[in-house]
Amino acid sequence: KRLTPPPMANDALQVVITAGPTREPLDPVRYLSNHSSGKMGFALAAAAAASGANVTLISGPVNLPTPRGVTRIDVESAAEMNAQAQRLATTAALFIGCAAVADYRAESAAAHKIKKRENSDTLTLTLVKNPDIIAGIAALPADQRPLVVGFAAETQDVEHYAREKLSRKGLDMIVANDVSSAELGFGSDDNAAWLLWRTPDGTDSEHQPAQSKTALANVIIQRALSLLPF
Ligand code: CTP
Ligand code: CA
Repeated sequence: KRLTPPPMANDALQVVITAGPTREPLDPVRYLSNHSSGKMGFALAAAAAASGANVTLISGPVNLPTPRGVTRIDVESAAEMNAQAQRLATTAALFIGCAAVADYRAESAAAHKIKKRENSDTLTLTLVKNPDIIAGIAALPADQRPLVVGFAAETQDVEHYAREKLSRKGLDMIVANDVSSAELGFGSDDNAAWLLWRTPDGTDSEHQPAQSKTALANVIIQRALSLLPF
């Protein structure tokens, strides 16, 4: 039988990570979502915990075990994820937004199951934009703002779009991967990525070749920790 590890010191580095998809209700039995498996975010949480950090994982609906030593908070919608992120980020040193947040939600979720209509072959849904969770954290006042690391899943011009997201969202670092191939990215156990981070005089970047999400998570955590101001 394994011995329980000693309790984490109170001064352990606080890390908050979002992971998985969000689920946006349309009615009591239906939702909008995406194919995010949560594997990358869970691997990051495991890597950060293994490096001694105190990790809180805000997770959308996924089918994964909670990594050892990690505090997990389950959410469904982007609005719920945003509320938890805002509550936890101001006391964190590092915030990593790995979740595939739904960009839009139904303007209003129907209170009762939407019935199929006999007199029409189409159904129009009105969607409204969800809050940009990570941009909100990056915009916190300096004394409450953690180091902010985002992700970008792209199917073309990966480095170009990543650079644009780094700057538009005010992030410190972004991890960009090409999800156009079936072997890498969404759902798979492996990932290749570009890491881009701000330096005092511009942006540095590094390409990480295809490797396990566990190995890539360690690289990302070590790079992010190296950017912390202490
Ligand atoms: N993100 C977020 N809140 C949202 C949308 C995205 O926090 N409402 C975060 C993701 O967790 C990720 C980063 O923003 O860290 C980039 O997500 P992505 O979907 O690639 O960017 P978008 O700005 O939504 O652009 P698009 O989907 O059009 O490529
Ligand atoms: Ca998006």
